[in-house]
Amino acid sequence: MSKRTVIKGGTIVAADRSYAADIAIEGETIVQIGTDLSGDEVIDATGCYVMPGGIDPHVHLKMPFMGTHSADDFESGTRAGLAGGTTMVVDFCLPSPGQSLIEALEGWHAKSQRACGDYSFHMAVTWWGEQVFEEMQQVVDLGINSFKHFMAYKGALMVDDDELFDSFRRCAAIGAMPMVHAENGDVVATMQQKLLEQGIRGPEGHAMSRPPEVEGEATNRAIMIADMAGVPLYVVHTSCEQAHEAIRRARQKGMRVYGEPLIQHLVLDDSEYRNPDWDHAAQRVMSPPFRDKSNQDSLWAGLQAGSLQVVATDHCAFTTEQKRTGIDDFTKIPNGTGGLEDRMPVLWTEGVNTGRLTKNEFVAVTSTNIAKILNIYPQKGAILEGSDADIVVWDPRKSKVISPETQQSVVEYNVFAGREVTGLPRHVLSRGRLAVDDGTVCATPGHGRFVKRPPFAEVNKALSKWKEVTAPRKVERKPENMPACV
Ligand code: URP
Ligand code: ZN
Ligand code: ZN
Ligand code: ZN
Repeated sequence: MSKRTVIKGGTIVAADRSYAADIAIEGETIVQIGTDLSGDEVIDATGCYVMPGGIDPHVHLKMPFMGTHSADDFESGTRAGLAGGTTMVVDFCLPSPGQSLIEALEGWHAKSQRACGDYSFHMAVTWWGEQVFEEMQQVVDLGINSFKHFMAYKGALMVDDDELFDSFRRCAAIGAMPMVHAENGDVVATMQQKLLEQGIRGPEGHAMSRPPEVEGEATNRAIMIADMAGVPLYVVHTSCEQAHEAIRRARQKGMRVYGEPLIQHLVLDDSEYRNPDWDHAAQRVMSPPFRDKSNQDSLWAGLQAGSLQVVATDHCAFTTEQKRTGIDDFTKIPNGTGGLEDRMPVLWTEGVNTGRLTKNEFVAVTSTNIAKILNIYPQKGAILEGSDADIVVWDPRKSKVISPETQQSVVEYNVFAGREVTGLPRHVLSRGRLAVDDGTVCATPGHGRFVKRPPFAEVNKALSKWKEVTAPRKVERKPENMPACV
């Protein structure tokens, strides 16, 4: 019989309620929740909140991008996540144009072998054709139920609207969920060119070339295309009111559209790009860029009201040296920032400690909602008997000042550096194994496992109005009934 570990004396905080109870774990699984439990080993949670481990649905580990690779690999990235209470990450498998999705997936499995915590993949649709259409079903059979589409990065990852529509309809047919990076890539490319012609070459040009309008437009467009395809839609890194408004409106109409703010967009603003230190500004270049205060307020309101469901990081960290590839041209600065270790402490500090989020809402947006949207609940995202023992014992009194000196990421800076956070993990368990023990990171490379995510049941469809409108017409449309030309 395997050893029985008991987490004692804490308050369990779930997405729906908080209550005092102990948790017993055997092997990788929660086996009992109750009072006065005993076991072979006891983890003291007195004065702490006991929450389901965080799930970050949006990371890029060792991703080939903009002529380089993101700096954190599956080992350092998942270790960073665990250090901050995140026990599972979802990375994006990116086939190169023309590459088989299955072959790309094999590559992603190979590079995730040393992950310290559990992981899954979204598949990116980076090109379109018969082969992609066919392989999408195989990808679903292999445990991946979400397909990501870039509406930005023209000439690289971007797909056109006709491809979006084809791919979204394919997702609907095979029980998968499409996702979009929503920025109008054509307009961005034009604006980048104009700015360069005007001599604007520094990181400030990055934000100028990607205003909220390009994100709002693309979000609206993707929502309409998803509705026509009759499929739900997940919008990654929702950063502004224009995009949030589109999501809010769609949800109010009954469409299943999900929005994912990043912790960076919630707390960092566009003044960072006007910092005279080129490195400082370039280190913060990501897409969409940081926004102004009014957009931050919109994102917080969305989390509070439930019109936005998830807080992620889009962890895609590059060293300063990598960023310097764009020293003379902001369009060449690798896009991306880190945040895996900081997402939960920063959200707790800025959300829970300020009263903007309840503790239960914190659990919902960092874990439970994500598990439900990605179809892995209650294996993940829950403290229930039978769930994986991915658990965070959270000490609400523990403080630190975020510093690159003490972080797990291999990058030598941190966009949150200097920020004091109060609320940190005391212990973190990854499928029953301690990954943080009394504040000390003891994660095990190779312990992480690929988590299969089954296709969605038929019930999880968008409430498309389109099919009614285009049902076969009984009345023949004759030329005399056509509107007159003027
Ligand atoms: O700037 C970003 N967000 N880099 C990572 C790739 C992406 O667009 O998500
Ligand atoms: Zn096309
Ligand atoms: Zn993106
Ligand atoms: Zn991303």
